[in-house]
Amino acid sequence: MCGIVAYLGHREACPIILKGLHRLEYRGYDSAGVALLNGELNVYKKKGKVSDLEGFIAQKDTHANVGMGHTRWATHGEPNDENAHPHYSTSQRIAIIHNGIIENYAALKTHLQKQGHTFHSDTDTEVFVNLIEEIQKQNACSLEEAVRLALHEVVGAYAIVVLSKDAPNQLIAARKGSPMVIGIGEGEFFIASDATPIIEYTNEVVYVNDYEIVVIRDGQLEIRSKEDVSQTPYIQKLAMELDSIEKGGYEHFMLKEIFEQPRSILDSMRGRLELEAGHLNMGGIRAYEQKFVNAQRIIIVACGTSWHAGLVAEYLIEDLARIPVEVEYASEFRYRNPIITERDIVIAISQSGETADTLAAIELAKSKGATIFGVCNVVGSSIARATDAGAYTHAGPEIGVASTKAFTAQVTVLTLLAMIMGQKRGTITDTKLRELMVELDTIPSKVEKALELDTEIQAIAEIFKDATNFLYLGRGYNFPVALEGALKLKEISYIHAEGYPAAEMKHGPIALIDENMPIVVIATRDSSYEKVVSNIQEVKARKGRIIAVVSEGDTVIPAMAEFVIEVPHTSEILMPLVSVVPLQLLSYHIAVLRGCNVDQPRNLAKSVTVE
Ligand code: F6R
Repeated sequence: MCGIVAYLGHREACPIILKGLHRLEYRGYDSAGVALLNGELNVYKKKGKVSDLEGFIAQKDTHANVGMGHTRWATHGEPNDENAHPHYSTSQRIAIIHNGIIENYAALKTHLQKQGHTFHSDTDTEVFVNLIEEIQKQNACSLEEAVRLALHEVVGAYAIVVLSKDAPNQLIAARKGSPMVIGIGEGEFFIASDATPIIEYTNEVVYVNDYEIVVIRDGQLEIRSKEDVSQTPYIQKLAMELDSIEKGGYEHFMLKEIFEQPRSILDSMRGRLELEAGHLNMGGIRAYEQKFVNAQRIIIVACGTSWHAGLVAEYLIEDLARIPVEVEYASEFRYRNPIITERDIVIAISQSGETADTLAAIELAKSKGATIFGVCNVVGSSIARATDAGAYTHAGPEIGVASTKAFTAQVTVLTLLAMIMGQKRGTITDTKLRELMVELDTIPSKVEKALELDTEIQAIAEIFKDATNFLYLGRGYNFPVALEGALKLKEISYIHAEGYPAAEMKHGPIALIDENMPIVVIATRDSSYEKVVSNIQEVKARKGRIIAVVSEGDTVIPAMAEFVIEVPHTSEILMPLVSVVPLQLLSYHIAVLRGCNVDQPRNLAKSVTVE
């Protein structure tokens, strides 16, 4: 949530910062601003998107080689010009950008007001910059020292960059709990919330750790601890390609990412499913193999779409490895005094690897001695680094706020994990394992085939685009898919949608069904097929409008449903990877037809770094 970017070097800073902000806009998009240092310290900021900011500064003098920018997802204070970042200190000699939340800002603000500081916004961030100014004044110290001392006084999460008119060729940054990466170019430095604003210029990066302070000064990068001890920066090479963060001819990132799934699923299996050799590998579990084999329980923690992937994993692991699994919303788990033991394995699933609640759930489980396994997409992210072991999903950058390819990559990795666990525990026969491996190998081509339904699904979207409610029903492995389909629709089209286990419908939601209600039923051929057919009859008897996702060749449901979407058939346990695809396309087309901003839906952000 909130994107930060900063530059110091020999080029014009402003265009680099604005381009970077566009790339980070998925993190928040209610206001944006830049601060440029060129003798003067100028701050320009505006409510709205980065493009609104660009219009606003078009006529301003933006010449500078040092600067920083911010795109905001509001926490404290509504989205308006005043609450947009950067924020000045009272003297307007220092400016700050901030991603995170300062929890003790109210007490600090009262104290600072007594010292004569004035405030123009409702934000916690403006308190932070005034605190730095006050400390610098009281201690007559350097900017770096003032930032360091201020970090000892704030409680909460932050990734900050600070510029001062009195420190002309200098960037000071710090992080705790919010992501930050430094790009190192030839005589130039970049700071950003993730690597996307950087890869165009350099592939050498340093991921900043919590409680580290970054000082970029005189062409040098220095990293110091909060206790002022110099740290050796660990420079890594970025593997990301520029193409992966551009739309590549698609109208939206979301559509591009939906269509990338045959490839991203393949990438998530690469080196892990070796069909010819008959091997399954997952480097991440090697050191913890015995823990996995002897685990008394698996607890999955995640949020949103990743939580849905976790639900699929529950079915998979219990089915194939016969270990009890609990799937928890990270935000509930962390506050409910859960029972966790050293024989538990906690699997944390997160696309961004930055979700604050998931991170806190990990810390809690760690403190009780559980082994933590991460399933993350973003390499080097906080969650990836906080876990004992893990497997990256390798789906590539996901820019659209609604998660699509990350979900299928998570499910693929979790399927492989469940298969490996079943193999090691002897709870799955060699024949069954082999069958599953062969079938898993066909999934990318089956997803490709499901994507050919796009035009057909667009036509269905035309018919239902003005609906106000949707119900999604599924059973077994398709129940989490129903939840995911409903979430996709509501988040990007703002149509109310609920996902339910098909049989549970008669315990309440059936009361909603009338001739106006679209009901998406995922009814592929599996062990609960006959039961779902009965559920469809129940809906039909109440005149609900049925859109059924069925296995190719089904002859029963087409006679009952108003619309039928036929997907390639696969094994029951792999079906979520295929059956979710038409639901992603349906929400996409409905949202586009309703004129919604598909890639940046209102009130949402891609990376939820506040609890
Ligand atoms: C939905 C969506 C969110 C995320 C959730 C968790 O499309 O994107 O529900 O799944 O915020 O995010 P990660 O996976 O980054 O932890």
